[in-house]
Amino acid sequence: MTTENTYAYRIEGGYPVVGKIACLGAKNFVIKAMVAALLGDTPTTLTNAPAIGDVDITAELLTSIGAKVERVDSQQLVIDASSMDTSTVPTPHSGSNRVPILLLSALLHRFTTVSVPVVGGCKIGARAVDFHLQAIRRFGGVVDETSEGYVARRVKSLKGTHIDLPYPSVGATETCLYLGVLAEGRTVITNAAIEPEVMELIMMLRSMGAIIFTSSGRDIRIEGVKQLKGTHIQALGDRIEAASWASLACASNGDVTVSGIRPDTLGNFLSYFQEIGGGIELMGAESIRFFRARDLRPAIIETDVYPGFSTDWQQPFAILLTQADGISIIHETVFENRFGYLKALDALGARTQLTSHCLGGIPCRFRDKNYEHSAIIIGPTPFTATSEPITIPDLRAGLAYVIAAAIARGTSIITGVDFLERGYGNIVPRLASMNLKIERIAGSSL
Ligand code: EPU
Repeated sequence: MTTENTYAYRIEGGYPVVGKIACLGAKNFVIKAMVAALLGDTPTTLTNAPAIGDVDITAELLTSIGAKVERVDSQQLVIDASSMDTSTVPTPHSGSNRVPILLLSALLHRFTTVSVPVVGGCKIGARAVDFHLQAIRRFGGVVDETSEGYVARRVKSLKGTHIDLPYPSVGATETCLYLGVLAEGRTVITNAAIEPEVMELIMMLRSMGAIIFTSSGRDIRIEGVKQLKGTHIQALGDRIEAASWASLACASNGDVTVSGIRPDTLGNFLSYFQEIGGGIELMGAESIRFFRARDLRPAIIETDVYPGFSTDWQQPFAILLTQADGISIIHETVFENRFGYLKALDALGARTQLTSHCLGGIPCRFRDKNYEHSAIIIGPTPFTATSEPITIPDLRAGLAYVIAAAIARGTSIITGVDFLERGYGNIVPRLASMNLKIERIAGSSL
């Protein structure tokens, strides 16, 4: 993911964030649903589809191959794949995301050759695509890696198979779903990802006519069908946004009611949040109030695949832990390089230390490798704004910096907000309505 320093946020922190905020549709479902829509013979309507950078990039990818993507309003997209006329996917003007590797499999039913550019996404680890490529090969496709990207080919129809994923990768599970639903015969995926966004994608594919059986574990069985139709689906609320607003409320000693979020998708987050001193109150089927119930206590957290503590909750939660009384530990086991943002917080007053040791018990793929994937956070440390701008290194770190600036006394400047706006829509008005003194300014004015 590349970004220019086009815009920055100026935040005057030190005040409790109080009010109401509605979660937007989950980015990590919506962009996968847009790809799934290409499998249908008739148009698909997607509601609660936020107008954010990553959705725009995905729309650009889809239109570049002839599909029609119509944004009806700020919530609704209609995708019609019937006009798709090429399977050579170019790199979009605005940089790429993780979608090209998903298109490689989704398009391989309709075309006998598909080429996609090298995938993008945040630089939080090597983010290999070997599981995806291996899956396409298991279904009978041939894949070549070129200097520009990947080319997949098939001679005959793809055939159902057994895929045992080496790790429950979200993206690779989605690739297997796209491949399996229209492949001939039965596909079994073992060790699949079961994140809420993956389960919602399965629901969507079922509504298009796919036959998919889930289990109580990580096994998925698919009976391939000959064709799928379009559907109408409302995206689930973004659980990463919700956890960010919860962390913001608690860290700033504020009180925020978050709507548009299914509490079950927040799973263990709600438990960790309360364990450290956060308070929650269910306000309705899809609405939760978050506040600080008592002085904050430290925690030991290990990120993990669902239903574990999500790697995407780690960054806002780390800011919260800087305000807890004692030593907290976070062991990141999903991405090897997801603490790049932490050091910059020391300038605001945080006391943190990274180590390549596994500070936790989850069997971790990064053990004995030289990745700084465990963090020690010593709190509580009041934050004070610095005169130097802080630059966002990746999407989720971006919101962590907004929370850090919100609790820091004084005025902070955060640059590189283009990263953040790929995943969070309308940040400034939404946060300003909750008493956060935040402005979006041109990067050139700094
Ligand atoms: N992996 C491989 N080989 C593969 C695929 C994955 O080694 O072929 C490894 C990755 O390197 C990583 C682990 O498996 O260490 C998990 O990766 P996964 O495939 O699950 O992640 P992803 O599909 O690339 C999605 C989200 C991420 C989220 C992760 C984990 C999207 C667009 N991205 O990424 O979200 O952190 O799952 O839940 O859905 C974000 O939204 O900011 C973000 C990074």
